[in-house]
Amino acid sequence: MSQQAVAIVTGASRGLGQALARALAGKGFRVYGGGRSWSSESPQENFSQLDLDVDDDRSVNEAVGKVLEEEGRVDLLVNNAGVSVAGPVEEVPVMAARRLFETNYFGVTRMVQAVLPAMRRAGRGTIVNIGSAAGRIGIPFQGHYAASKFALEGLSEALRMELLPLGIRVLLIEPGDVRTTIWERRTHFEAKGSPYLPALQRFLKVKEREMGERASPPEEVAAQILRIIASPTGRLRHPVGRGSWLALLGRRLLPDRWFFQVVENNYRIKRSEP
Ligand SMILES: NC(=O)c1ccc[n+]([C@@H]2O[C@H](COP(=O)([O-])OP(=O)(O)OC[C@H]3O[C@@H](n4cnc5c(N)ncnc54)[C@H](OP(=O)(O)O)[C@@H]3O)[C@@H](O)[C@H]2O)c1
Repeated sequence: MSQQAVAIVTGASRGLGQALARALAGKGFRVYGGGRSWSSESPQENFSQLDLDVDDDRSVNEAVGKVLEEEGRVDLLVNNAGVSVAGPVEEVPVMAARRLFETNYFGVTRMVQAVLPAMRRAGRGTIVNIGSAAGRIGIPFQGHYAASKFALEGLSEALRMELLPLGIRVLLIEPGDVRTTIWERRTHFEAKGSPYLPALQRFLKVKEREMGERASPPEEVAAQILRIIASPTGRLRHPVGRGSWLALLGRRLLPDRWFFQVVENNYRIKRSEP
């Protein structure tokens, strides 16, 4: 069995997962970074690419099996792989919402189920779920994405309590906007002649700005997450990145009516005149 602590990071081929995998490898973890498509080899010390599609039972079991065969242990699982879908709830086909859940929710479930037997045998381990501020704030035109992250919040709460007696820690990370390509790669629904178009287009302008200059660099967010993992914290939820902490504090403290007004103003949502 490896003497080094072993980490699996899903969705490590780019974005936040790549930054996290690099940062963990730099801190001495033996990191297996999962992904479906790689643009380059991984020359970094302590890092191996792992072919992994979290939507697929067999791929998950083979990938985790390979890590256990090579290292004999998994100390840390970071459930980071995720996708985004944008569009009015009414116009996003159910199949597209289902595919989103397959990755953002069931993908996490598959990974958790695959690593837990080894973590239980060891009597220790840490599971880090990468949620989102959108897991506590419903964002217009990202209803299904927010729903998948709300679902992850519920799963993480339950899992934390189930695993407490087994010595396994669960952390839920709630990033604000991070400067990655997730938004460019989203599956986007914008129907010609749609009654939602004026509001959707105003929303898109704000969102482009949020995902640009104002968003946190992934390396900055990865460094924050690393500090959380290294700390002995017993707290489940951890807002990270610029703006997330304040938005989630507002969500907690403000009455719904006031909070929604802030979100509606931010995304230029206008009420129809009676
Ligand atoms: N960027 C933000 O503003 C933001 C904010 C809050 C939360 N988050 C969350 O942070 C996480 C990372 O997002 P990101 O912004 O870094 O996105 P990204 O740059 O698009 O990277 C997503 C990663 O997930 C992987 N992935 C997608 N589907 C997968 C599947 N079925 N199986 C395995 N890997 C899969 C992708 O790799 P392959 O395509 O190679 O498989 C890629 O490595 C996500 O959970 C996202 O919801 C992001």
